[in-house]
This record gives sequence, C-alpha cells and structure tokens, in this order.
Amino acid sequence: MPTIRTPIRRTISFRQEETNITKTTQGLFGLYRYPAKFIPQVVTWCLKQGDYNSVIDPFAGAGTVGLACHLQQIGVEMWDINPMLKHLAQSVKTLSSTSVPNPLQLVKEAIDFKNSQALDCDLEYLSQWYDRRVLAVLKNLWLFYNQTSKRKRALLLAPLLRLSNEWSYNDFQCQKLFKSTRSINSINDRLGERTWKKNFYADFASKVSKAHNQYITQ
Ligand SMILES: C[S@@+](CC[C@H](N)C(=O)[O-])C[C@H]1O[C@@H](n2cnc3c(N)ncnc32)[C@H](O)[C@@H]1O
Repeated sequence: MPTIRTPIRRTISFRQEETNITKTTQGLFGLYRYPAKFIPQVVTWCLKQGDYNSVIDPFAGAGTVGLACHLQQIGVEMWDINPMLKHLAQSVKTLSSTSVPNPLQLVKEAIDFKNSQALDCDLEYLSQWYDRRVLAVLKNLWLFYNQTSKRKRALLLAPLLRLSNEWSYNDFQCQKLFKSTRSINSINDRLGERTWKKNFYADFASKVSKAHNQYITQ
C-alpha cells in the first residue's frame, strides 16, 4: 500500500523562492500564448524539491513543465491531445542545439518570398476567420515557413502563430476561439489604414525579434 503523507502547512511565496524568474512570461515561458498555463516559478520550485531524473506531464499544454525541466536539465516526457505542442517542443529542442538565426535577415527573406502555390487547407473555413487581404499575406509567410530550413522554422513558429492569431477575427477577451463584432471592427480599423501592410510586416518583424531574444536569453 502506498503511504499517504500528512500535508505540511507552510506559507510560501514562489516569487521569493524563485527569484531568477521575475515574471511568468520570462524568456521561453512567454513564447506561446496558451489558456491556463502553469506559473513557471511554482513548477521550477516543485522540480527542485526532489532529485528527479525525469518527469512526465500528460496534459502539457504549452509545455511549461517541459521548459522548466529543460532549463534544469531534467528529462521530460510531454503528452497533449493538441498537436501544436509537438511543434513547439521541436522548436525549443532545435534552437537549444544550434545557433538562433539572425531575425532581421530571416524576416527579409520571408517577406521577399514570392510563391503562387495554393494553400493546402480549407479556405472556406479560413475565410471565416480572416479578411482575404490578411489571408494573402499570411499565406505567403506560411508557405515560406513550409519550405525553409528546420532551424529557421524553429524561430518562426511562435511569432507566426501569434501573428496569425492577432490578425484574425478572434476575440482575445474570450478564452476560446470567438469571433465578435468588437474583434471584426478592430481588424477592419487596422485594414482601413493606408499603411496596413507595412504595419503588418512591422508587427511580424517585431514578433520574430522578440522570439529571438527569448531564445538567446535562456
Ligand atoms: C490547462 S492546459 C495545460 C497547460 C499546461 N500546464 C501549461 O502550463 O502550458 C490542459 C491541456 O490538457 C490537454 N488535454 C485535454 N484533454 C486531453 C486528453 N484527453 N489527452 C491529452 N491531453 C488533453 C489540452 O489540450 C490542454 O493543452
């Protein structure tokens, strides 16, 4: 029979215990926006309480446990029904074993990429979520992503996901995907500006540069 330990009553401030992590979105912990993420200070503290060789997280989400293990060099097995985790984990793994690409060069290469290929997905579904002008520019960036090197894809993944989300009709005030009048108006206001495409690419560049910093400051 497993022994049940009596709970210990103790007051603890994880922020004070884990002073190396000053905010929940620090470094790679802020790479991907995901609902109900664990607080990294709590996970990091818990991992330090035992002498763990490896850890399993069966509902890994954006991989907070995986990242904390990665930073403490503890082996980790992550499961999630959402296939996105596999790609994010692959990005972190790739860029921890090779140099992070130059963000400015990569952004230029992606923007200059011209392709007339069709997008291999359900356009009728996508047109529910995007204005066709946004879809056209996003399509080119994702086609670039698909044909570029593993190393460049690793840096591009999180910023492209965020860009695709923030330029969609999704309403960020809601936890789940939701299209509202407010979010539609917000996109229409942005597209009403003469410089919308320039703003779109500036947003893309800033997101890639931020992800670059998140990778190199770990
Ligand atoms: C609250 S999130 C976990 C967030 C995670 N702790 C983090 O810090 O990023 C719960 C996760 O459980 C996953 N999930 C839900 N049902 C599942 C199932 N039956 N099998 C595998 N994963 C599942 C969801 O896809 C979601 O990513």
